[in-house]
Amino acid sequence: MTEKRRIVSGMRPTGPLHLGNLLGALANWVNMQDDYDCFYFIADWHALTSDYEDTRLIAAYTRQMMIDWLSVGLLPEKSTLFIQSHIKEHAELFLILSMITPVPWLERNPTYKDQMVQIKDKDLSTFGFLGYPVLQAADIIMYKAFGVPVGVDQVPHVEITREIARRFNSFYGEIFPEPQAILTQTPKILGTDRRKMSKSYNNAIFLSDSPKAIRSTVSQMITDPQRARRSDPGNPDICNVFEFHKIYTDQQKVDTINRECRTAQIGCVECKKIMADYLAAALAPVREKRTYYETRPALVDEVISNGCDRARKVAQKTLDEVRTSIRISYQGTIGA
Ligand code: TRP
Ligand code: SF4
Repeated sequence: MTEKRRIVSGMRPTGPLHLGNLLGALANWVNMQDDYDCFYFIADWHALTSDYEDTRLIAAYTRQMMIDWLSVGLLPEKSTLFIQSHIKEHAELFLILSMITPVPWLERNPTYKDQMVQIKDKDLSTFGFLGYPVLQAADIIMYKAFGVPVGVDQVPHVEITREIARRFNSFYGEIFPEPQAILTQTPKILGTDRRKMSKSYNNAIFLSDSPKAIRSTVSQMITDPQRARRSDPGNPDICNVFEFHKIYTDQQKVDTINRECRTAQIGCVECKKIMADYLAAALAPVREKRTYYETRPALVDEVISNGCDRARKVAQKTLDEVRTSIRISYQGTIGA
């Protein structure tokens, strides 16, 4: 058997996961488990880069995120699931990489420039926020990943990672492979208000939502904006509710809705009720598993501690190599 190629990806624990996260990243992570040696981690230090003032929720979000992951089918037997801050080697590698990373590379980073302009309610003029991609580079090359499954927004960070790896190798010897981004296609589904689904927009359906909550959120969804009255024919092709139907509702029913919407035989209220039922049914097993893990905290702790042990072994080996190659490795006589 040939060894599976390794991939690494992380998520910041900034709140409960929603359907956008599931369809945009997690479902893909789950699918990759059979074909790759997967290292998935919760980037809690990265959460500090923007949320350093109020850190009260990071620990709880981290735990909830692990429960979400387990509930959608990430398997600790298959994948290495861990928490960034539990592997101190990430901090050491970050420090070393920061020594060789030119500041202009970071200032040019498009996500940095965008966020500095867009986010006005937090002071992001910190060293750590500028250095975000350096920590991410450490996360990735630590495990000598060949690939990084991410959305398009993260491609610049993977590119910086490649540049940092190349620079390290040129100074100290070929240690790190250059990782490539494995693009996750973004889901067509939007939030209830037709903007990108996001916790901060208050337009999301969460994996932990009850069927009742799902029905209520779905009832508020904007449909075909042209369809003002019940008697107006609608156009499913431009309706966000219909995108959900295509994912969760059975095909025959989807065909019927597609027809009846265009002739105003079905109204949006009824159409949404049907969709909410299918969606709630699809999420029922996730919710069941959530309850299972919520009521077994020791089991979640064990998953975390086993995953961290596995990750740490690899990270320690990498750091041994790094320290040797940069000649800051004190074993025996110092500096002789
Ligand atoms: N920056 C990523 C995000 O916001 C999270 C992340 C941190 C990450 N370290 C990583 C993703 C390493 C992939 C690999 O989505
Ligand atoms: Fe959208 Fe359904 Fe209303 Fe048609 S009937 S516009 S598909 S919600």
